[in-house]
Amino acid sequence: MRYLFTVILLGFALGVPSAEAQELETMEKNISLPVPRLEGEISLEEAIVQRRSKRSFRPQELTLAQIGQLLWSAQGITETESGYRAAPSAGARYPMEIYIVKSDGLFHYLPRGHKLEQLLPKDMRSQLAAACLGQGFVAQAPVSIVIAAVYERITSHYGSRGERYTDIEVGHIAQNVHLQAVALGLGSVPVGAFDDQAVKAVLQLPDKEQPLYVIPIGYPR
Ligand SMILES: Cc1cc2nc3c(=O)[nH]c(=O)nc-3n(C[C@H](O)[C@H](O)[C@H](O)COP(=O)(O)O)c2cc1C
Repeated sequence: MRYLFTVILLGFALGVPSAEAQELETMEKNISLPVPRLEGEISLEEAIVQRRSKRSFRPQELTLAQIGQLLWSAQGITETESGYRAAPSAGARYPMEIYIVKSDGLFHYLPRGHKLEQLLPKDMRSQLAAACLGQGFVAQAPVSIVIAAVYERITSHYGSRGERYTDIEVGHIAQNVHLQAVALGLGSVPVGAFDDQAVKAVLQLPDKEQPLYVIPIGYPR
């Protein structure tokens, strides 16, 4: 009962809209994600011990609930009043933008309202794999999360030290995602070996956004 109440409260906190509003949003190409779960099947300790980089995936798609949960672990709003998120951020300046590359297109995560915004309606996974120096498992994974930073959001406040803060923050976010993947029975791999400009071009990122991290995720073989 307490859990149900927490979920309802969280749905409210995340600004998850009514069915009518959801319909309207879908027409605008925004997709509301299911309310994230606050309890899982395994303990944090089990997730830590089970986490291993996985580089071979079954061709099974992930559900919207799984994708929503992974994105919530990355940048979901976990405290409404302050707007604080699942991962810490120096000065709470939140310099990251999170993208999802999957078979039906490219999507951008909107933490406010816990939504996906569709940017491109085509499968970019092979192009992303090529930009990741030909790492074939990037094309095979049903989903890749791409984390990009807007350094100015932090350096405008902290000067050049903000660059380090941004690079530290992406590690926090990525680790949440890797552990959340394990907790969902999925596997993931950190990918840092990629051509920055090529990833930018594939995702058509704005100039001010720098890709820092690619995380292919799926059911491990
Ligand atoms: C910053 C960073 C970048 C990485 N880049 C790649 C990569 O481009 N491709 C890859 O296959 N693995 C990559 N890895 C994964 C490491 O190879 C892997 O973490 C390491 O072999 C230890 O294995 P484990 O993750 O199963 O503990 C990266 C890991 C880190 C932390």
